[in-house]
Amino acid sequence: MRIVVLGATGMAGAAVVSEAAGRGHDVTAVSRQQRPQTGNRLTSHLVDVTDVDGVAGLLEECDAAVVAIRPPAGQEGDLAGMTRGVLDAASRSETPLLIVGGAAPLRSPAHPGTLVIDDPTVVPPAWREVARASLEQLRACRDHEYRGWVYLSPPALFGPGTSTGSYRRGTTTLLVDDQGVSRISPEDLARAVVDELEHPGGDQHFTVIASS
Ligand SMILES: NC(=O)c1ccc[n+]([C@@H]2O[C@H](COP(=O)([O-])OP(=O)(O)OC[C@H]3O[C@@H](n4cnc5c(N)ncnc54)[C@H](OP(=O)(O)O)[C@@H]3O)[C@@H](O)[C@H]2O)c1
Repeated sequence: MRIVVLGATGMAGAAVVSEAAGRGHDVTAVSRQQRPQTGNRLTSHLVDVTDVDGVAGLLEECDAAVVAIRPPAGQEGDLAGMTRGVLDAASRSETPLLIVGGAAPLRSPAHPGTLVIDDPTVVPPAWREVARASLEQLRACRDHEYRGWVYLSPPALFGPGTSTGSYRRGTTTLLVDDQGVSRISPEDLARAVVDELEHPGGDQHFTVIASS
């Protein structure tokens, strides 16, 4: 497949670039400031995602794109608008998008009528405003006329750590392991991302957790 990764220098994006290139896909790595590595079957472009025409030009050439963008701290409120611009761009070529978003819009496992963002045992009050960005991002997707997107919510804890080599998949409820921990490494999440691109599971919103 020809895969564009937006946010390719970030935690999630870099892991997706590595996983996809490692599986032999042609990868176009896109970021704004720092040119990522170029190698066999890997090319890179400096494009700001707010440049809708520039993003549209890249998406025309590919089979699917991964959106792994995150605005700098303090500008989280920009995420929904940036995502809307990528949806506008993708709609021109009907390019399938896989959006790596946040855990906030998942249902709480303890209280299925409550979203994670409203469960202080998962999202402490201090994180609420940052978490709100992913709620607004998913809303921007749902409100957009282009339907060719899939939204992947990571678990509550998504960051460097042990890579288990596999993962468990769920739908719209936060997954926890048998110790009650909700966690995944970038490498394991990247496996789930590329699996979804290769074999779409049919869910518009899904989540994953590291295998325990
Ligand atoms: N548990 C959770 O729910 C959880 C935890 C962590 C992350 N996440 C989510 O995972 C996703 C990826 O986050 P991350 O931590 O991997 O991000 P990150 O490491 O902060 O990287 C962000 C990436 O976005 C790019 N970017 C930012 N603004 C851009 C723009 N205007 N145009 C083009 N590229 C731009 C950056 O490139 P430049 O620096 O070159 O601009 C960088 O490659 C986000 O949606 C984030 O909310 C969720």
